Amino acid sequence: MAYRFAVIGGDGVGPEVTEQALHALDAAAQRFDIAFDTTEYDLGGRRFLTTGEVLPESVEDELATHDAILLGAVGTPEVPPGVLERGLLLKLRFDFDLYVNLRPIRLYPGAVSPIAGLKPEQCDLVVVRENTEGLYVGAGGVLRRGGPDEVATQESINTRLGVERVIRFAFELASKRSGHLTLCHKTNVLTYAGSLWQRTCDDIAREYTSVTADYVHVDAACLYLVSDPARFDVIVTDNLFGDIITDLGAAIQGGLGLAASGNLNPERRFPSMFEPVHGSAPDIAGKGWANPVAAILSLALCLDHLGESEAAKAVEEAAVSVLGDLKAMAGPEMGMTTSEIGAAIASRIGG
Ligand code: IPM
Ligand code: MN
Repeated sequence: MAYRFAVIGGDGVGPEVTEQALHALDAAAQRFDIAFDTTEYDLGGRRFLTTGEVLPESVEDELATHDAILLGAVGTPEVPPGVLERGLLLKLRFDFDLYVNLRPIRLYPGAVSPIAGLKPEQCDLVVVRENTEGLYVGAGGVLRRGGPDEVATQESINTRLGVERVIRFAFELASKRSGHLTLCHKTNVLTYAGSLWQRTCDDIAREYTSVTADYVHVDAACLYLVSDPARFDVIVTDNLFGDIITDLGAAIQGGLGLAASGNLNPERRFPSMFEPVHGSAPDIAGKGWANPVAAILSLALCLDHLGESEAAKAVEEAAVSVLGDLKAMAGPEMGMTTSEIGAAIASRIGG
């Protein structure tokens, strides 16, 4: 059986880093005897600006037939905010029920953290971000728009089912790692949603006696991520908190050029989608200044999700091995171009 990958390079640096991830995939497939094919989909700002289409239904139906989706980044300055985010990225997360957003925060050897003296063994955690609910669902509305008495509401939707399944995933992950899980929320202020999250977490904790569970408010989590990341192993949190703390995490691990993510449907009813945490960075597009490591580490998450753990490990190790050769983690100061980094990684995957 051949794996079928849908590839959405997208906009800006998206296609550049995705191209390198595909070289890595080629190399891993050859070494580990993995059969696969890819289908490229032209989606993102360019398509929207030329055709007015964001995600035609027929395209979404086709995407659904693949084993996984590799996404670069979408967004161009000419497209109003929200169009591509809601119409493409969040739509796929919601429609394909990709309810876990898995975001490892790891200081790899060779990466440069802005936190002086931070050692790799002090920063190795995974954020499990709820990916289909919360403030992201788009519930709310506007009254008297434009008037001096305008009212805007934006509601956070939290269901027992949605909260329970993501927390359960996080406990399962923690039980395979160091056995420590932290629930991150703001239960002292968001008392309705917070209570649901806390009670659900307490209930599931009783089933996982080998996992110790604790709790941290999201503001304190930001403080600890910078001052003492070693206290975390698996953090489970809601959609918006997860969005925010994983950018902070990306900074700590050496920048967005290194931060990978997987949008998972753990039951595999739909293809899971893998993307670097960074955006399309239109300001540096076409210059060879984007670090493809985040995209390649996202490919490693993808291979792991598909059960190709040996290949995943080889891809991750090869991607990490180039970090020591870089003079900076992104931008013109890296000392290597996007494609040079990609080529070095692909050749190291080859063995
Ligand atoms: C991310 C991004 C998205 C999010 C945006 C582009 C909608 O910031 O993947 O973290 O908020 O989830
Ligand atoms: Mn984000």
